[in-house]
Amino acid sequence: MTTLPDTILVDRDGAIATVTINRPEKLNAIDTRTARGLSDAFDMLSADDGVRAVVLRGAGDRAFGVGADISEFGDRRDDPDRARDYEASWGSGLADCRHPVIALVKGYCIGGSLGLLPDTDIRIAGESATFAIPAGRLGIAYGHDDIARLKRLVSHAHALEILLEADRFPAGRALEIGLVSRIVPDDEVETEVYAAARRIAANAPLSARWHKKFARRLLDPAPLTEEERAEPFLCFATEDYGIGRAAFAARTTPRFKGR
Ligand code: COA
Repeated sequence: MTTLPDTILVDRDGAIATVTINRPEKLNAIDTRTARGLSDAFDMLSADDGVRAVVLRGAGDRAFGVGADISEFGDRRDDPDRARDYEASWGSGLADCRHPVIALVKGYCIGGSLGLLPDTDIRIAGESATFAIPAGRLGIAYGHDDIARLKRLVSHAHALEILLEADRFPAGRALEIGLVSRIVPDDEVETEVYAAARRIAANAPLSARWHKKFARRLLDPAPLTEEERAEPFLCFATEDYGIGRAAFAARTTPRFKGR
């Protein structure tokens, strides 16, 4: 079993898991071990069929995160080859997670921490959250893959606005351009996020996993294979489809099994 660093906390409340980036004294800046731990935590949760929703957050109220840990740059991002290795070392656990992921955003959401948002499925922010990608202020270039991921959420024009101005912008603007899905008063973010997580967890988990998988697949321009086109119809052979129909007919709340 993978051991997580103390900078990544995983809590579980039934089918809802919470992954917390736990470096509040550094505003949840992501150093290498934290990045790997984050990826490992999502790999572990993804493999667990008992999980139905995952909340991703930063510890404390001051920051979701302030991006990559700049204090490591001198060692790990001091030439193009090492910088490439560094980027690869972050892992893809969050991006590959089969379960719905909700980002709970409070305070600063900057750089590589903002870069996590396109790999989450719903993003709920407090009204005083602040966003920025300050790569241009550090002389760093955001790569093709990162820009493509950003453009899943915001338009080409807004992606360039964020990158070229490299300025901080408020939650209202993040909502306007599609970077976050919802903003709520700061003291209601947890309530809103966990209410959304409970709604997701009450729905059929196989439907959620299929919806997430199909939506992701559509980002790839390659034509769908016949096998892929057949996959949505597999739901009609599941026990949960029977449970859903029976509950509808009986006007009761379905209790899905994930089978
Ligand atoms: N990497 C490493 N440490 C960071 C960090 C980062 N990206 N961002 C903040 N920290 C650390 C600070 O060094 C400080 O640590 P210290 O108390 O040991 O000195 C601590 O977090 C608190 O940050 P501080 O700058 O004192 O807080 P602030 O409220 O005055 O400013 C920010 C907050 C977010 C505006 C400011 O920290 C900042 O601009 N950070 C850099 C963000 C960035 O450029 N990220 C992109 C990286 S590619």
